[in-house]
Amino acid sequence: MVEMLEQFEVGASPVPVPVPKNPLPYWRQVKAVRSYIDGIQTLLDAGGPLTRIVLGPKWLVPEIVLIASPQGARDVLGRTDEVADRGRSRTMVEMHALMGGNLLDLPHERWLPRRRTLQPMFTKRHVSRYAGHMGAAAQSVAGGWRDGAVVDLDAECRKLTLRALGRSVLGTDLDQRAEEVGQALRDSLTWVADRAGRPVNPPRWLPTRGQRAARRGNDTLHRLAAEILRAVRVDLDRDAPLVRALIEAIDPETDRPLTDDEICHELVLFMLAGHDTTSTTLTYALWSLGHHRDIQQRIRAEVAALGERALTPEDVPALGLTVRVLHEALRLCPPAAGTMRTPTRDIVVDGHLVEAESMALVSFYALHRDPALWEEPLRFDPDRFLPERSKGRSRWQYLPFGGGPRSCVGDHFAMLEATLALATIVGAADIESLESDFPLDTPFTVVAARPVRAVVRARSRA
Ligand code: HEM
Repeated sequence: MVEMLEQFEVGASPVPVPVPKNPLPYWRQVKAVRSYIDGIQTLLDAGGPLTRIVLGPKWLVPEIVLIASPQGARDVLGRTDEVADRGRSRTMVEMHALMGGNLLDLPHERWLPRRRTLQPMFTKRHVSRYAGHMGAAAQSVAGGWRDGAVVDLDAECRKLTLRALGRSVLGTDLDQRAEEVGQALRDSLTWVADRAGRPVNPPRWLPTRGQRAARRGNDTLHRLAAEILRAVRVDLDRDAPLVRALIEAIDPETDRPLTDDEICHELVLFMLAGHDTTSTTLTYALWSLGHHRDIQQRIRAEVAALGERALTPEDVPALGLTVRVLHEALRLCPPAAGTMRTPTRDIVVDGHLVEAESMALVSFYALHRDPALWEEPLRFDPDRFLPERSKGRSRWQYLPFGGGPRSCVGDHFAMLEATLALATIVGAADIESLESDFPLDTPFTVVAARPVRAVVRARSRA
């Protein structure tokens, strides 16, 4: 639901004060803003939950306002996208320049009609029709494990989510291309994130090593998207709802269908947004369960109570602990460490003035681990999401899917897929984690920095 926050506008009394400037030395700030997890946390620890980073004159580098309070998150994300636009933020401008216009990076005017076109395919009711593909993807991954084998949970979950996404909405077997897609995404997005984090950049046309790798990666993704589109146009029976919706969409600005280039830009985004994020969530959940065997056993009992058959969306209400484990994984390891908005006019955020054209960055990672908001925040405790223990918690302190009008369009898809996959895997195999920690990297989204090895032992669902 879009929340209007006009009552917080500038001009209200008391007059809002500017966000305090960060006290760290300049060079430390420059370094820290480029590290989405540890760096941002260091800046927040030094400057408080609302802190301003000034890296140069405003005409050259926009001021960055870091936000890690529930009220601050609400005041930024809860506004209409027209007033706080993600499409005008630096990261999205860089993404648009490399990968073309898509739902994630389009500025407000062009985003709204696109979102209206695609939203119906991702409602809770609609995504339940993809459940068969999701469950089958999990079964085929876990079914391929040899009893006692050591597997890389990260690679396995990536295969799983690419397979589920490819078969459910794109009409293709993406998992056969997991390595190629993964590398191409990494190269493209590392360049986007690097440029967004630097105060000043060389021109985009300069063929640096990063630029050439990014272009190659982006070309690979667009070639694959064009293949998918061609196959769907030729084969009228192919089950590819997302591709068909894009083919049938009419751009309200031109009154014409989207061009093939526009459709491919969108397909590339879905390959990015639709697999990496869910895969990290599943990997983190399985790794955690591999250390908390008691909770793993409780999930297994939950699954066993449903009988020996493929799980369906109707089973989700009976999989309460499975869902809580996923929420806890999303809290401790949010695949998007934060999100950005560019205010198009001066706004008030948690009592402070945030000027138009600054970069307002809400850190989910910091919000999710704040000891003032969570009891023992670093402890893996899925039952903190039981209704009786969630009373009084602000919905703006837990934001794995973002918030407001530009929140994740794939949240129901992701939660259904992850729930069916986690329950299917834990029902089929016993997981023992071999890694004591889960080091994170943020080439763009949050991912495991190294293989996440685990011993898997086959079990019968009975
Ligand atoms: C656990 C899995 C996922 C997480 C944690 C996640 C998280 C997010 C976040 C934080 C945003 C930005 C929200 C904001 O700025 O307020 C976003 C946007 C988006 N996500 Fe997801 N996502 C996930 C899975 C998916 C899936 C499965 C799909 C598609 C099938 C998807 C498609 C998108 C798209 C298209 C956007 C841009 C939406 C817009 O601006 O209209 N995501 N996601």
